[in-house]
Amino acid sequence: MHTIVRSGIFNSLAVSLALGIWLFLACAAWADENPPRSARDFTTQPAQTFLKDTTISQKVDALLAQMTLDEKIGQMALFTSSGATTGPSGARQDLEDQIRKGNCGGVFNAHTVAKIRHFQKIAVEDTRLKIPLIFGYDVIHGYKTIFPIPLAEASSWDTNAIEKSERVAAIEASAGGLNWTFAPMVDIARDPRWGRIAEGAGEDPFLGSEIAGARVRGFQGNDLGDGSSIVACVKHFAAYGAVQGGRDYNTVDMSERTLREVYLPPYKAAIDAGALSVMSSFNDLNGIPASANSFLLKQILRDEWGFKGFVVTDYLAINELVQHGIAMDECDAGCQALNAGVDMDMQGGIYLKYIKTLLADGKISQNQVDESVKRILTIKFMLGLFDDPYRCCDDKRETNLIFTADNLKAAYDMACESMVLLKNKSQTLPLKPGLKIAVIGPLAKAQRDLLGCWAGRGDSNKVETVFDWMVNDNMGGQTSFAKGCDVSSSDRSQFAKAVKAASHANLVVMVLGESATMTGEASSRTSINLPGVQTDLIREVKKTGKPIVIVLINGRPLALEEESSLANAVLEAWAPGTKGGEAIADVLFGKYNPSAKLPVTFPRNLGQVPIFYSTKKTGRPFDPASPMAKYKSAYLDSPNDPLYPFGFGLSYTAFNYSGLQLDKKALTPGGQITAMVDVSNTGKYDGVEIVQLYTRQLVGSVTRPVLELKGFQRVYLKAGESRRVAFTLGGKDLTFLRRDMTWGTEPGKFEVFVGPKAGTCNQRNLTWLKIDDKTAPDNGAGLTCTAFRTRLAK
Ligand code: NOJ
Repeated sequence: MHTIVRSGIFNSLAVSLALGIWLFLACAAWADENPPRSARDFTTQPAQTFLKDTTISQKVDALLAQMTLDEKIGQMALFTSSGATTGPSGARQDLEDQIRKGNCGGVFNAHTVAKIRHFQKIAVEDTRLKIPLIFGYDVIHGYKTIFPIPLAEASSWDTNAIEKSERVAAIEASAGGLNWTFAPMVDIARDPRWGRIAEGAGEDPFLGSEIAGARVRGFQGNDLGDGSSIVACVKHFAAYGAVQGGRDYNTVDMSERTLREVYLPPYKAAIDAGALSVMSSFNDLNGIPASANSFLLKQILRDEWGFKGFVVTDYLAINELVQHGIAMDECDAGCQALNAGVDMDMQGGIYLKYIKTLLADGKISQNQVDESVKRILTIKFMLGLFDDPYRCCDDKRETNLIFTADNLKAAYDMACESMVLLKNKSQTLPLKPGLKIAVIGPLAKAQRDLLGCWAGRGDSNKVETVFDWMVNDNMGGQTSFAKGCDVSSSDRSQFAKAVKAASHANLVVMVLGESATMTGEASSRTSINLPGVQTDLIREVKKTGKPIVIVLINGRPLALEEESSLANAVLEAWAPGTKGGEAIADVLFGKYNPSAKLPVTFPRNLGQVPIFYSTKKTGRPFDPASPMAKYKSAYLDSPNDPLYPFGFGLSYTAFNYSGLQLDKKALTPGGQITAMVDVSNTGKYDGVEIVQLYTRQLVGSVTRPVLELKGFQRVYLKAGESRRVAFTLGGKDLTFLRRDMTWGTEPGKFEVFVGPKAGTCNQRNLTWLKIDDKTAPDNGAGLTCTAFRTRLAK
């Protein structure tokens, strides 16, 4: 078996032991002005450094001095062309006229070099100051070569591969004439009903931050002006992933503590990685819509984080301030948005219509307008558009750089790395070629659905199906097909054929899930079950007694308790992109040993939602062994723990963890502590394990999560090989918002866990602790370890 590896790690299947080290640190409190974004420092130049280019700021000032008010306002307007439908209003009939009049600073959804050249020509030939347009597009998981959906990519926990995936997307998109992507989408999402969970990196701020930085680095490269990089737009700022009930565009209400500790870190990480634009979200946050929210757009983004790029709204988000009921009309909406810190109006035309009136009425200042225009022009200069407005309009590049063999290979590798093996009873997988296999299910021959929810310019005709590749890989065997049912209809008329195909086979591969349009924007569901009659189909096929392998194509965590119990093996393949069919078959046949881990919890049932590993302690943690279990935090009709926890994923091989140790007994301010663990591949195959480190603060001035991810490593181990894996932890990793709402640490005891997944979220672990204890002095001076011990946790 060959294994595609970028760096390495592993996972345990037979060995479901999480290794825990109970470390009792008494750490001095030390304040940290900056919220922790992640444990590592990004190497890319941050936006602030980019923007210190004095030549550019002089050029911007000189240009601004020549601009009329109308020309300035024009730069603040962004309009869609007719290239795609990404919102409720389409392209304006008069778009070209608006460009000609200088009423437009950028265009989105125009793609292909020919189209972009056409619009750019109008801007640079027919307007007085010849200011080039910036061209944006939603390059979310690839441009033409479509990569797995972002949630799938996040399952790889491979930030290098994710960065590469965005590099490929940037090269293709820029070869197609584009300068700007509305990505990365870094919204933490903990509600699988929300269809946009597919577009993000899942539930965890640490993993989400690492991935956010990687995506920005991939898009923006080392030099924004090199013609192959595109400006990143971090979205949706802020907390859009927490819409109530998982219903898209709905309201968000959360504590400032949760906002800052959980939801904000990935946006901050993206900005620290150099992201030069930010999209203000549709939702209100604690009563104030994000696109009129100066707490978000000024206090946090500019004052606390030092963001120097520009803010664009989401589609019509200024206009929608009226529907939100905080603006009496569109003029008032424009006033509130500008005063809150929005620089560019996406599609609404509000700034265009009302800025002059607002200035005349003294409701906004000329300086505000100038500052917004300066930010936008700065990015255009950085992109090199003033040197060559057509720098991304090269027909040869468009022909040669898009959908290349290398790009397809990167998409294939990413797809393999993204697939999470959820169950593999008695090593049903990998399949041995030569079997009689019945491939059953509505997605076995799907093309479009493999591309996923935001497939850019992806071409479904170019997608080879799972069935095609099952036939290809099952050499010497027989591979039959039966659809069985549709994804969502209630029609059972094709069940009989499917059952017949299954009964003639040695094994059944069922390719089930959601269609591409069931996730993404405006695709919330009130059920997270397999849609339609797909579960009934599994029940019928099960009656044949044949082993069942379920392959899932979907974009959200699904409730799979019954499906999983009926299957011998389950592979979560997500929407795997252009090369998904091949990658799925290759994983099933063992050409790639799965290594991915869930970036989001899979509940047993919708009633458990919201469910995530990093839950808070409660006053009545559930302990089934306790005689008073009744009065503990639990459900009458369901266990508390999920079906598949965050960080979970199996491999065809087995991994064992042992010998967890810490190199020191105390963590002092400015110091570091190293956790080391031996990881062994005890199975028959080479493989990658994703080793995860979690901490738990035992006592804080406020309630703290039961577990927090603080590090992970991908470790490649040949069969039989062992490696000592080391993680370092510093004070920054233990910071949080203390009772007085300052960032910092508190003296106290921490547990450190290293293992293959987050444990279940009840607190039984705590009751196992025996603290040989001298409590650390809370004197704010230095750290003393009072006691620590290690033990294996189940
Ligand atoms: C609305 C979506 O919320 C956003 O993610 C997207 O970038 C814009 N439309 C533009 O297409």
